[in-house]
Amino acid sequence: MTANELLAQLRVNGAIPRHVAIIMDGNGRWARERMLPRPLGHRSGMKSVREVVEGALEAGVEYLSLFAFSQENWQRPPVEISALMSLLEEYIQREADELEGQGVRVRVLGDIDRLAPAARAAVDRVTAQTAHNSKLTLNLFISYGSRAELVRAARRIADEVQAGTLRPEQVDEAAFAERLYTADCPDPDLLIRTSGEQRISNFLLWQLAYTELLISPVLWPDFGRTNLYEAILDFQNRDRRFGRVPA
Ligand code: FPP
Repeated sequence: MTANELLAQLRVNGAIPRHVAIIMDGNGRWARERMLPRPLGHRSGMKSVREVVEGALEAGVEYLSLFAFSQENWQRPPVEISALMSLLEEYIQREADELEGQGVRVRVLGDIDRLAPAARAAVDRVTAQTAHNSKLTLNLFISYGSRAELVRAARRIADEVQAGTLRPEQVDEAAFAERLYTADCPDPDLLIRTSGEQRISNFLLWQLAYTELLISPVLWPDFGRTNLYEAILDFQNRDRRFGRVPA
């Protein structure tokens, strides 16, 4: 089926996932298959980012979360880190106006204090520029690790309890979730990981508790709108029970 046929089918089926999260994997392998340097794989992956943002907008997804740079990625060779940071800046520079016009609210989630000043400035700029939008929230996870996010939430709770602004008996699942980067987002309905790897890789450990997982064999630079719609179609055929028995 073509992308438009798939889109029509999704609409007939109904239930579009509100929140889709993606672990964008396989840029390096895509480049290696073509005997290209790894940064060119990431550059090509940027096109896929554009595709899935447009696809999500058209399908009516409300939240799109993309894992763009993990805490562990800081251990990659400096040339690759700087290539990824420049790509991020370039993406923001090139796309900010269009994203704003499309109704996208961009947010960057993670330990952004570690970003170089230019990247940090670009992040702050696009966040402010698109803050008023509400059609699609695009969460870019950068310098993000889920365990660190959980520890940060625990530390914030400890500080509040020590300061006397929070009582231990008020610490429940909702209070904990409110102290994560994703505080005002619903949990993902669907997680897609590309390139066939079957791992969570320290992404959204708390938030994925009841998320449907879909592993796609497609390398991220080859992943487009059609692949996104196929994943949503697969999701629509799942039976989500959240630990309960069928009605
Ligand atoms: C994983 O591929 C991908 C990344 C570490 C970076 C993802 C970045 C982009 C798609 C480009 C820019 C992003 C934005 C938001 C503009 P890998 O390098 O681990 O691939 P491999 O497993 O094949 O080596």
